[in-house]
This record gives sequence, structure tokens and C-alpha cells, in this order.
Amino acid sequence: MRLSPFSFLSLFLVPLSSSAAPHHLKLRQSVTPPRHWIRLGRAPSAHIIQLRIALPQPRFPELERHLAEISNPFHGSYGEHLSKEEVEELVAPHPSSLDAVREWLASHGIRSEARHQSLAGDWVTVYVPVAQAEEMLGTEFSVWKHDKDGDVLVRTTEYSLPALLDQHVELIQPTTIFHRAKRLRSTLHFSPPPDVPPSFSADAKITIPGYAVPVDASCNTTITVSCLKQLYNMVNYVPQAMNKNGIALTSYLEEFANFADLRKFYADQVPAALNTSFNVVLINGGLNKQSDAGAEANLDVQFALGISFPTPGTFYSTGGKPPFKPDKHAVVNTNEPYMTWLDFILGQKNIPQTISTSYGDDEQTVPRDYARRVCAGFAQLGARGTSILFGSGDGGVGDGNPDPTTQICISNDGTNRTRFIASFPSSCPFVTTVGGTTQIPEVAADFSGGGFSEVFPRPWWQEAAVEKFLKSLPNGTYAGLFNPEGRAYPDVSAQADNFKIFFRGSSTPIGGTSASTPSFAGLVALLNDARLTAGKPSLGFLNPLIYSLEGKGFHDVVVGNAPGCGTPGFNATVGWDPVTGFGTPDFGRLKELVLQY
Ligand SMILES: *[C@@H]1O[C@H](CO)[C@@H](O)[C@H](O)[C@H]1NC(C)=O
Ligand SMILES: *[C@@H]1O[C@H](CO)[C@@H](O)[C@H](O)[C@H]1NC(C)=O
Ligand SMILES: *[C@@H]1O[C@H](CO)[C@@H](O)[C@H](O)[C@H]1NC(C)=O
Ligand SMILES: *[C@@H]1O[C@H](CO)[C@@H](O)[C@H](O)[C@H]1NC(C)=O
Ligand SMILES: *[C@@H]1O[C@H](CO)[C@@H](O)[C@H](O)[C@H]1NC(C)=O
Repeated sequence: MRLSPFSFLSLFLVPLSSSAAPHHLKLRQSVTPPRHWIRLGRAPSAHIIQLRIALPQPRFPELERHLAEISNPFHGSYGEHLSKEEVEELVAPHPSSLDAVREWLASHGIRSEARHQSLAGDWVTVYVPVAQAEEMLGTEFSVWKHDKDGDVLVRTTEYSLPALLDQHVELIQPTTIFHRAKRLRSTLHFSPPPDVPPSFSADAKITIPGYAVPVDASCNTTITVSCLKQLYNMVNYVPQAMNKNGIALTSYLEEFANFADLRKFYADQVPAALNTSFNVVLINGGLNKQSDAGAEANLDVQFALGISFPTPGTFYSTGGKPPFKPDKHAVVNTNEPYMTWLDFILGQKNIPQTISTSYGDDEQTVPRDYARRVCAGFAQLGARGTSILFGSGDGGVGDGNPDPTTQICISNDGTNRTRFIASFPSSCPFVTTVGGTTQIPEVAADFSGGGFSEVFPRPWWQEAAVEKFLKSLPNGTYAGLFNPEGRAYPDVSAQADNFKIFFRGSSTPIGGTSASTPSFAGLVALLNDARLTAGKPSLGFLNPLIYSLEGKGFHDVVVGNAPGCGTPGFNATVGWDPVTGFGTPDFGRLKELVLQY
């Protein structure tokens, strides 16, 4: 095990005495800051921070029950998605909770104009100076810096609330959350592709047993849109539901998708799409600066839209900074990523039927209650008929750090146990998580993120598949390193390395589950096209359907493993496994299957 001690962290931690909280406040949460976060000092008292207050959603179990039915192909109400209003009703708080929160805010001089309330009323957001937040929450905020990537956050390690709010406030963030939306990319090479002439002729093909069509031999070194169309049996499909269907990519961290690069990509790989583009939606001060192309954003847009063309595409760029007047104390990126986007998208009447995201971070950097609330937001999107896809991460069973020698596989639960590190939102049961493969014939990519959630229990739809995998493990395998009772991922996978994208004017190879995820999403958009064309509703939440197929419609990947935490990690095996899920898709077969329901 190669684990470096980071004991110096303790030098910077000034413990807060519990007497810092006035007597009428009750401690609600106390966390250990994740490794690598160093406390620099007290946060400036005039610095403005955002507080998102989550009110309990007493009818959420009802929403979950509906979702289980409408996404289960064997249930009579399969595909009967809920409307925006129905979802809002099922996540609305009790009116007394809203009253209690309003009174509490008013008692701190926060007037109604200064509050933003989600449409369902389940979130109330305010912007307050640090000094006021400290008084409201009986805590002290500090400035924290990540010793590796230099990110700076204003956070606290604990907060309290009046006991009167016990039943009325579920959580308040960003307070103790150290999670960020990191790009999931493992292998970004900025060098031009090798000049060595290929050792095969241009029309050489590889025939793979179990695959519908032969694949260009060049696909073993460079993945293009036509490689994926051949491998995954999409070559002859002609989309027809362009007026009803949509696909979208989300972007954070000022990753911008470039129109000129997309044009070059289309000229090279999808000539029929040459004069087409995508819709840009800017959220919370997000931008799409054309002078500053992002490799992640370009990869997402080029492959998702290249595969699903001519399905209309949308690029959501969510800003990282709250909309307050910049002051001299402003610290960058004090916001958190997903709720801002969820708050926006859940308020839309029409939502694209397929949405892909290639960002995530270690699950243990997210407080559990907050992870559950964000995940509940993805469940609401599923209930409205949208398929949500996330990359599984690029660190195998480890923490996503591409350098395995510096992976810190240590639990943040206070025990410092050695543990595999799950990633979030990949571990949320209401998203479909995409792992990675490479080469032809396909083997597991050695970076493909996979494993078991420490937060979310194993959902009903994956009982049989995961139980079978666990039984196949030699007795005692990695005992104590993972939670065999947890939601296991990925669900599916796709090629994830040597993708040819265009970036800042020239072609470059790129890889990671950042590549497999938008590609798989492009294929899901085509499945939705087939259903919408046949007059059926969109697929919505995919997992109950995928697991009910028991591998039908997928190429099982049975070679390879994804190391991490100084171990070889799990193996790709026959059937579902936590490296490649059920394997890679066969569109032709899946299309027949999804048209049956
Ligand atoms: C865990 O590690 C942290 C950081 O190195 C240290 O401060 C803490 O005392 C350790 N806790 C235990 C229970 O060993
Ligand atoms: C594809 O490349 C891999 C690794 O370079 C090699 O092992 C495999 O034989 C190649 N496949 C074919 C069909 O040539
Ligand atoms: C794109 O536009 C150019 C210029 O108008 C035209 O010549 C070309 O045929 C168009 N290509 C496609 C694929 O529509
Ligand atoms: C697995 O090993 C443990 C101890 O190493 C033992 O107690 C248990 O009975 C074994 N289970 C099986 C099914 O062999
Ligand atoms: C993976 O497969 C190898 C070779 O069959 C085997 O030795 C190893 O125990 C397996 N590892 C796990 C975690 O199943």
C-alpha cells in the first residue's frame, strides 16, 4: 500500500470549542475536512456567502414509488412520466416548515425579497455576510485551500441550528461540503497523434464475435464517431424525432464548448452535420467564451452531438460564483456545483430527454445528507422522463488521482481506515453511471471507475446482478475495503480512450470516462428517438430497464481490471461487474428491446 501521511494537516486545525454555539442552538453537523484541505484562517466577516436551506420533502417516498413503477418495463405504468407540477407537489415541504424557516430568517433581519425559493418550496436560498452566517449557525467560517490544486473555499467544519427547526430544516449548504465538480479525465494528451503510418490498409476491417458489423482496423488506435457507430451497431439508423427529442451536456468550472472546433470535428467525422450547431444555456453567470475552449466541454459536445446528429443539442454552462456584487474579500468558487443546475433545470417546462455529465469528486467529500438531497434532485429528473448519465470516474477503485502512487485511500469517517474511494454523483442510484473500455476486441480500461457507495444502499433493481457478482468473488476479497451493501456502479460502459477530438484548432487524442459518457448518452438519445418516433414516451430513468435486460443488448466485457489504492481492483467478469457494468451497448438489439415496452 502506498499511502503518504498528511499529518501536517493537524497543525492548521484550530478546534472549535462547542461553547462557540449559543445555548439555544443545537449541533446539526460536524465533519472532518477531507485530506489536502488546509485551513488558512478565519473567513473575512464581510465576505458574502450563499446558504441553501433544504426543507424536508415528506412525500419523497411517494415520488420514489412512482419512479420505481414508471421506469420498470414490467409495470403497467411504464413510461407514464410525471409532469413538472406533479413532481413539485411530491417534493414540496410541509407549509409549517416554510413558515418556520421564514420566521427564523426574519428574526435575523432577512426579508422576503432577499430570499430565493425553489418552485416546489423545498429549497430556500439566501446570501449573507460571513459574520451573519456565523451568528445564525453558531459557528466560524474559515478559508480553506487545497494543497494540490490550489482551490480555495470558504467553509466550516460544523454548524448548529435552533432546536425549533429540527423538523423543518434538513440541512444547510454550502457550509461543511468540500466536494467540487472535477473534470473526469484521465488521459488528456496535447501532443498531436503519432505520425507513424498505420500498419493496416485504409479499408481493413476487424470482425469481432458477437458484434453486429465489422469495425475499421484504425479504430483500435483512434476512436471516431464512425468507429462508435460501427462498434455499437448504429450505422444505418436514421433519426426522425428531431422536433420532439433533445440531448444536453452540462458544464462547470468555466469549461467552454467551441463552435469553430465543432465545425472542424464535423468536417472530419460527421460531414452531414457541418452547418449545424447547438443551443447554449447560461446558468448563474455561466459563460461560453469562444476565446477559451475547454477540452472536456469540446469532448462532450463533439461526441454526444456527433453520434446523435441531427438530434437538437443543448450546452448548459453553470457559473461557479454566486451573483453578488464583487467585493474585495470575494473568494472564487464558494458555490457548489449541482444544486444550482438542478434548481434551474427542474424549473423548466421542457427538459431534454438525455443529459450527460462528466464531472464528479470523491463521495466522502460530500456530507451524506447533502448527497441524498442532490441525488433526490436527479430522481426528480428521472420521474419527468429524462435519462441522466454520469461518468464513473477515472481512478478504478481509487480516488481518481491519475497517479496511483499519490492516491490517498483513507476513509474520512474519523477512523482513518484504508478504504476504496467511491465517487459522487456516480454513486447516486438515480443516475446511470458509465464506465470505460479500450481496444478491439474490447477490454476494461484500467482507469474505469467502479465500486460500491458508502452512502446509498443497494437499490432493488440491481439486487440479483450485484449479488451474483459478490458470490463470484473469492471469500474475503477486499473485505473491509468496500461496502458490499452499497449501490454498485458502473451500470454500463463504452470506449473511453484514444478519442480524436478537435481542440483549439487541431486534432488531439483524449480519453477517460469523460469520453465514454457523452458517447453512451448519444446512443441513448437515438434510443429515445426510436421510441418517440413510434409514439412511445422517452426512456426516462434507465437503470430498472437496463438491469431487467440481464445483459441482453450489451456486449459483456470479461477481460481486464481497474486498479486503485495499491490493489489490482475488481475484475471484469461474465455478467455485471463493478468495472464495466453490463458491458458496451448493441444499439440495434437495444432498439428492438426498448420498442417492446
Ligand atoms: C486521522 O488522520 C488525521 C490526519 O492525519 C489525524 O489528525 C487524526 O488524528 C487521525 N485519526 C485517527 C483516529 O487516527
Ligand atoms: C488492438 O490493439 C491491442 C493493443 O495494442 C492488441 O492487443 C490487439 O491485438 C489489437 N486488435 C487487433 C484486432 O489487432
Ligand atoms: C453547408 O453550407 C455550405 C455553404 O452554404 C454549403 O455549400 C454546404 O453544402 C452545406 N453543407 C451541408 C452538409 O449542409
Ligand atoms: C469465509 O472466510 C471466513 C473467515 O476467513 C469464514 O469465517 C467464512 O466461513 C468463509 N465463508 C465461506 C462461504 O467460505
Ligand atoms: C482477478 O482475476 C485474477 C486472475 O484470474 C485472480 O487471480 C484474482 O483473484 C481476481 N481478483 C478479484 C478481485 O476477483
